[in-house]
Amino acid sequence: MSEDEEDLVISIGGSILLPDDDDTSYLVSLAKMLTRNIGERNLYLVVGGGRIARDYIRWGRQLKADEATLDELGIKTSRLNARLLIIALGSISYPVPATNFDEAISAGNHYPVVLMGGTHPGHTTDAVAAMLAERLRSERLINATSVDGVYTSDPNKDEDAEKIEELTYDELIDIVSKGEGGAGPNVVFDPLAAKIIKRADIDTYVLHGRDIGSFESAIREEKFEGSRITG
Ligand code: UTP
Repeated sequence: MSEDEEDLVISIGGSILLPDDDDTSYLVSLAKMLTRNIGERNLYLVVGGGRIARDYIRWGRQLKADEATLDELGIKTSRLNARLLIIALGSISYPVPATNFDEAISAGNHYPVVLMGGTHPGHTTDAVAAMLAERLRSERLINATSVDGVYTSDPNKDEDAEKIEELTYDELIDIVSKGEGGAGPNVVFDPLAAKIIKRADIDTYVLHGRDIGSFESAIREEKFEGSRITG
């Protein structure tokens, strides 16, 4: 690993991977972009559950499942999505989603790309990504999600929401703490993840994962469209 190419953890929202019923073209473009940016480093990709998780959690909730069981449905679907990205990446990737951090880090000794989904009930894959970055002593983390940055409030619900291009860990914690709890996708970045990036001092870039150009720029530490969270 060269000094300017440290191992990088990327949280990839499930909702950007497969938003439509029949659309694998994004997966192909994403896999190509990631492959050309490996260089000397390892990439650790933590994939979310997206639409499939939302459906399963909704159906489970209708059947009166408890929240921890609903979380398990989210974890399983995130691993299913990770598996699909593994297929798109081919032989450069560890062939299964790692189910814990030790496995992910060991796999990184043999493969340049390692994927994870969820781990335990009670948080989201953003928190998994933040914890993995902390374990790897990474200095930065990328959150590729379904909004093009951190906003003052939810831009899908509030037309006065304003994008914040540069913010501190504490400002992020304030914004995401207003979100709701419970199983299922909620806010732009998991509040637990926000606390972890603060304690581990991990610069975090938030961007729209479907904007492959911006995504690639962020990986390369070039100017990108999104938000930058620092200490
Ligand atoms: P996601 O990580 O996909 O939520 O986990 P998200 O980031 O809000 O959604 P997208 O993917 O960006 O659209 C989905 C659900 O799975 C459970 C939680 O219920 C979470 O809301 N989950 C996931 C866990 O309980 N533990 C995990 O480690 C991961």
